[in-house]
Amino acid sequence: MSSRLASAVRSVRQFSTTFSRRAEAVAPTAPPPARARGRWGLGVAVALAVPVAYVAGAVNPPTIALMFSPRYSPPPPDRESKIGKEITAEVERELQELALVAEMRTLSEWYESRPYEKYDPNKVHNSLTAGSLRGPGKLAVPPIAFAKENETEGVIVAHLGRSLCGHDGIIHGGLLATVFDETLARNALMNIPTHIGVTANLNINYRSPCMADQFVVVRTKLEQKKGRKVVVSGTMDTLDGERIADATAIFVEPKWAQFLQSSGVTDTLGAPTQPEGEMEMEPREL
Ligand SMILES: *[C@@H]1O[C@H](CO)[C@@H](O)[C@H](O)[C@H]1NC(C)=O
Repeated sequence: MSSRLASAVRSVRQFSTTFSRRAEAVAPTAPPPARARGRWGLGVAVALAVPVAYVAGAVNPPTIALMFSPRYSPPPPDRESKIGKEITAEVERELQELALVAEMRTLSEWYESRPYEKYDPNKVHNSLTAGSLRGPGKLAVPPIAFAKENETEGVIVAHLGRSLCGHDGIIHGGLLATVFDETLARNALMNIPTHIGVTANLNINYRSPCMADQFVVVRTKLEQKKGRKVVVSGTMDTLDGERIADATAIFVEPKWAQFLQSSGVTDTLGAPTQPEGEMEMEPREL
């Protein structure tokens, strides 16, 4: 949520709390005797409470209400349109200003990268996450990825827009699976010398609905490395720390991986420019 929106929500919340406190304070001390006056007072209270509740609810509706009756939202604008570019820039600005991102940047033994940023322009349009799903209202910007220098852990922050829903207003579970697949893959593949691996298994527990149009934080962890097989686990939370889902995955390096060119994969993963203690694999000719 943008900080401006957050402060608007806060002030409305504060207003409604103040208002109801005042109503509580006034109600019992109001002169009770005349029945007619009591009814009139109740009428005024209801007349006031309804619009106040409506305004408060419209600005900050309870999750359960949104689940059953989401507010209508216009379709996403074209990525190259003026408004499309503005939305993309706004999401990028918010991402760069997140407290979590600032905190991660202070940690030693971690590096930062931007997966998909250097994706081959001749291939990007056919990529699910870097092409088809990229755009305002969808995956507006590439995620920011932080990784431990020894590639045992990762923290990825991604924005999930309003047009990636299953139930309207709630991010599609299959999209969350895609996000897990790619974030867990990044952690796993950095542990494979060729950086080439395929998903052999992905196991997800969905814990709570993921509301659209928010940043999510995926934390990944290397569990096991055994031959060509890498096991990783991960969690997905809202910025407030609410668990959305958790997952485990197994990635396997194909037997023919050493014959493939890996530089494109390295770019896609957002590998550190100078991997420590390890030279970039020379692309091999078939
Ligand atoms: C990775 O680095 C962390 C420190 O950031 C250290 O605690 C951990 O033991 C290292 N793990 C391996 C497998 O090297």
